Amino acid sequence: MKIETRAVHAGRHIDPATGAVTPPIHLSTTFERAADGEYPRGYSYSREDNPNRRALEECLAALEGGRQALCFSSGLAVANALVQGLEPGDHIVAPDDVYWGLRKVIGEVFGKWGLETSYVDLTDIDSFHAALRPATRLVWVETPSNPLMKITDLPAIAALSRGAGPNIVTVCDGTFATPVLQRPLDCGIDMVVHSTTKYLGGHSDVVGGALITRNDNYLFERARKSQRYGGSVPSPFDCWLTRRGIDTLPWRVRAHSDNAMRVAQFLEAHQAVEAVHYPGLPSHPAHKTAARQMSAFGGMLSFQVRGTRDTAMKVAARCQLFLRATSLGGAHSLIEHRASIEGPNTRTPQNLLRCSIGLEHTDDLIADLDQALVG
Ligand SMILES: Cc1ncc(COP(=O)(O)O)c(C=O)c1O
Repeated sequence: MKIETRAVHAGRHIDPATGAVTPPIHLSTTFERAADGEYPRGYSYSREDNPNRRALEECLAALEGGRQALCFSSGLAVANALVQGLEPGDHIVAPDDVYWGLRKVIGEVFGKWGLETSYVDLTDIDSFHAALRPATRLVWVETPSNPLMKITDLPAIAALSRGAGPNIVTVCDGTFATPVLQRPLDCGIDMVVHSTTKYLGGHSDVVGGALITRNDNYLFERARKSQRYGGSVPSPFDCWLTRRGIDTLPWRVRAHSDNAMRVAQFLEAHQAVEAVHYPGLPSHPAHKTAARQMSAFGGMLSFQVRGTRDTAMKVAARCQLFLRATSLGGAHSLIEHRASIEGPNTRTPQNLLRCSIGLEHTDDLIADLDQALVG
């Protein structure tokens, strides 16, 4: 079945009690036991499992072509659960421009855990290969990356990791691409992570995360335990909202991608712009890799203005339609000075603005950016 069909049907069941086509929200925290003490309907307590969560998990597994999925209370809750599954002394390889929250999880939450981490430019496959060690257990990829829109060659990372031994689990954060544009599991990656807060929810009204696995592996099982006994579960309503958002995911993501391509082309030709980072542009250093592993290039882009941090802040301040806010993947276009949010140790250029291109008409978006850039 094609993804548009899976997005509408996967994990949706007619409610057996009422025939409702739209699923009810199961707020009950607890479920009845049968006389023999068993749970014949498969649910006992909502921290462990819940019908809305299970429906969303079925849907996400179907979208990614995975075996199983787990839904969490946020994207970073997934990262916490995965890192928690590692042993002291284990080694992680992660991108040097990884989403800054993962650095915080590894360094600040698990700083005492005794983990070793190499932050590497994963677009350089030789550097990646050289970074692998006998103790490497987790390879974390994020493509496209946030906010520099770097592209990592997923089949190459999967093959090199497999070749380095059976103990390495590869994980791709596919938040920017969504399963509509990129299917990491088909490229040989073991697990996919999403912040469902973004395109999957799609309306900037629900925080969530998901982990989808292609195979049975110990880190997935440890993440499940960490969730069950740590409690980082999404509410039934959050799952319901996210599942509803997914109905329109393929159509939204293609519209975001078309809009972003037009905005990127406009920015690339603008005199006030020094550089545009968008994998759909032939000038992007990994455009060919992106074209191989993505069906379109997504709704996220970043650009560097000609000038300083102050120039960039002024451009953002002059925007009328683009909202100055963090996050991404909703209907509204957003603009953000990333270095400010990432803090003093950021590697993000100070003259960079990141945009989540929304679903408005591109003529209006381009007119807004033009007046903001011209000043
Ligand atoms: C690429 C990426 N991964 C993970 C996260 C974390 O997700 P959440 O905010 O749902 O915890 C974000 C949030 O911005 C992100 O952009």
